[in-house]
Amino acid sequence: MKITTILSSSCFWLFVLLNSANPCATVFYKGGNEKTEELEDVKRSHFPGGFLFGVATSSYQIEGAILEDGKGLSDWDVFVHKNGNVENGDTGDIATDHYHHYMEDIEMIHSLGVDAYRFSISWPRILPNGKLGDVNAAGIMFYNSIIDNLLVRGIRPFVTIHHGDLPQVLHDRYGGWLSPLIQDDFVHFAETCFKNFGDRVRYWVTINEANLVSEFAYEMGIFPPGHCSPPFGNCSKGNSDTEPLTAMHNMLLAHAKASKLYREQFQPKQGGVIGIVVNAFMYEPLTDDERDKEAANRALAFNVAWNLDPPVFGDYPPEMRRYLRNELPKFTSEERLLIRDSIDFLGLNHYGTLYAKDCTRSSCACSGSACVAGGDRAIRGFVSTTEERDGVLIGEPTGLPICYVVPRGMEELVDYIKNRYHNKPIFITENGYSPPQQEDQLDDLLDDKRIEYHKAYLASLARAMRNGADVRGYFIWTLMDDFEWTLGYGVKFGLCSVDRTTLNRTPRSSAEWYRNFLRKSPSSNNNNNNNNNNNTERRPTFSFI
Ligand code: FCB
Repeated sequence: MKITTILSSSCFWLFVLLNSANPCATVFYKGGNEKTEELEDVKRSHFPGGFLFGVATSSYQIEGAILEDGKGLSDWDVFVHKNGNVENGDTGDIATDHYHHYMEDIEMIHSLGVDAYRFSISWPRILPNGKLGDVNAAGIMFYNSIIDNLLVRGIRPFVTIHHGDLPQVLHDRYGGWLSPLIQDDFVHFAETCFKNFGDRVRYWVTINEANLVSEFAYEMGIFPPGHCSPPFGNCSKGNSDTEPLTAMHNMLLAHAKASKLYREQFQPKQGGVIGIVVNAFMYEPLTDDERDKEAANRALAFNVAWNLDPPVFGDYPPEMRRYLRNELPKFTSEERLLIRDSIDFLGLNHYGTLYAKDCTRSSCACSGSACVAGGDRAIRGFVSTTEERDGVLIGEPTGLPICYVVPRGMEELVDYIKNRYHNKPIFITENGYSPPQQEDQLDDLLDDKRIEYHKAYLASLARAMRNGADVRGYFIWTLMDDFEWTLGYGVKFGLCSVDRTTLNRTPRSSAEWYRNFLRKSPSSNNNNNNNNNNNTERRPTFSFI
């Protein structure tokens, strides 16, 4: 075990009692590099009435039934069957078999007492052919049943139209996200969703994490279609310096066209809201040097604002234009008008914080799990990232190689987003904890660390809100252990565990904690009337449209 790991784990979970008069109210948490953070005993009443608490999942990660009832193949269905693409040769062929267990899963969601459930629609289950052609009636029925069963239990469906699983035929036909032809095919899929489900769905996300998909699929080559070039990796196809930019450009325009269609043809009647979700790490400068401070700002621009500036301001971040010049695609003036202001809210999937180091003037050879090859290239903004400062980890490690527990990162990130986007409404669409894989799990169901994680991140979020951020909801990733992409089933994020042999679901302690956290306490002075299970009290209030 690395010395840094030992050091950080021994101090991370050491909560020092500070306020002896009220020992439960305030404790201090010591993170990497001796930074201290205040942890409060966070309560639901710290969040405003109408704030949505939920859990999140995605279609490929839970559904299984990959060729049932007329579904077509997704790119993930194909990718996982190629040797070496996923740890242990795991696949999502069965996943948690949610397709057959969805009623049981909805009961589980209901028992948590959440306000909302975020899930995604499998594109090839609805349009097996990827584009025009027959709509698969069985697919429509499946999601109709989920939506109806959520609503009768007073749970709001928060629907992601596309979360990773692209019809394979669209790669075969024209190269998936690399072709502008995909934009209209996506709009057709989105329109099919609005038409069939929009009478009951009030929260829509067009695309999940376009930034992460561009990077993982077209720069590092670890998501389908597995494109990359050196030094990022050795793939049989791809150009890591340019393809991520093209893929992102097409995803952004696909989003913008779908959003325009929704706003013109559906929103006035259906009254919902539409947004986009980004993978949002926080970056702190590695040193006090001005160059590292600028590097941290560039890391945010090249990762987060890359995805969010266009739908808010109509163009890519100036920080990117400065370093990428003509490599960065351009929006025509028409496209600019189309994409500008194309979201009602922005969704943040937040899992970690890293240190950023400038590579414009210093050499950026790096090692360690958070080091991404190519930090010294324009596509990465000449920034390298690291999890260590002076041999001390930024936070306790988790099951994901680049994610460390750094609760303050939530407040810092939300603050950054608030300032950059003039306080546009925010949802935390994912935040979650998976224990390190090698950790001895004496009892996998007693997941105290997950509970501490959510308490700490929620407290940090509450601080950001007290500082004025307009945050409307928080979704835990995830309801139950699922297929975690290239890491397969080894990484466990679930509030509920899933036995891989029997597929039995069992709630962990964290599920019990969330249920209690969400329960309206009689002494609470919160005027929130959305946290009981009375159907009639759960009418959506869309104060921001
Ligand atoms: C996010 C993905 C989600 C899940 C979590 C752990 O990047 O959106 O599907 O895998 O990571």
